[in-house]
Amino acid sequence: MSSQSKPKNITISTLNKLHSSGEKFSCLTAYDACFAEILSNAGVEVLLVGDSLGMVLQGHDSTLPVTMEDMIYHVECVKRGNRGSLLIADLPFMSYASETQTLENAARLMRAGGHVVKLEGGAWIASTTRLLAERGIPVCAHMGLTPQSINRIGGFHVQGRDTEQAQAIIEEAQMLQEAGASLLLLECVPRDLARKVTELLEIPVIGIGAGPDTSGQIMVLHDVLGISPITPKFVKNFLLESENGIPGAIETYVKAVKDLSFPADEHCFH
Ligand code: KIV
Repeated sequence: MSSQSKPKNITISTLNKLHSSGEKFSCLTAYDACFAEILSNAGVEVLLVGDSLGMVLQGHDSTLPVTMEDMIYHVECVKRGNRGSLLIADLPFMSYASETQTLENAARLMRAGGHVVKLEGGAWIASTTRLLAERGIPVCAHMGLTPQSINRIGGFHVQGRDTEQAQAIIEEAQMLQEAGASLLLLECVPRDLARKVTELLEIPVIGIGAGPDTSGQIMVLHDVLGISPITPKFVKNFLLESENGIPGAIETYVKAVKDLSFPADEHCFH
């Protein structure tokens, strides 16, 4: 990508405009300054400091051990390397269990450099979403497969496969938009359900394992570089076809999201 076309200071309104115009946007997880710079220079609109760092960086088998201190450290690192992408920061497990705790922790992430906070859940995070949004903190609500609830869900399974569960996701997504969420992230749901939610909502919907019809796509950085120990169905290794190493792989990912060649049918759940 030429330096003229690199994204500069992406905001929620940039994503709203892309969503309204039908242009897809790309998001990737980032955990340090070096990769943050490569990713934002390659045109990735959104960098997510995800609590997936507990698995891909720290070697845990879930995201549950990740602490606020871990998140603050990595948000500060990513902020230093970021060159204008929107920075979303995860509120980790049990860091938004009470109102006071939510406000304190969200404020810490914003002071560290986050532009948006992400939290996982459905109807039960509606009041938390409202609390944050009314105080000027943009919220990305994460639905579908929510890894912080892995012990309740019972495994990293596709969500919303049956009619009742799909209807609940649709209704709760609308509830979260109504509560003031600026973005919705849908993880591991059937393509048709993700399409329906995206069509029904006004806010941009970011998908992972949710098919090509959402407003944007997100992937874990280690997955697009093919260095994760497991390869779920929705993952593609972009380093394999890169002629310019890691920057080339990231540019190919951005292009594939924009021209709709990723995710392909083989990456979707039906
Ligand atoms: O923590 C994370 O990296 C995430 C992505 C899987 C979307 O939430």
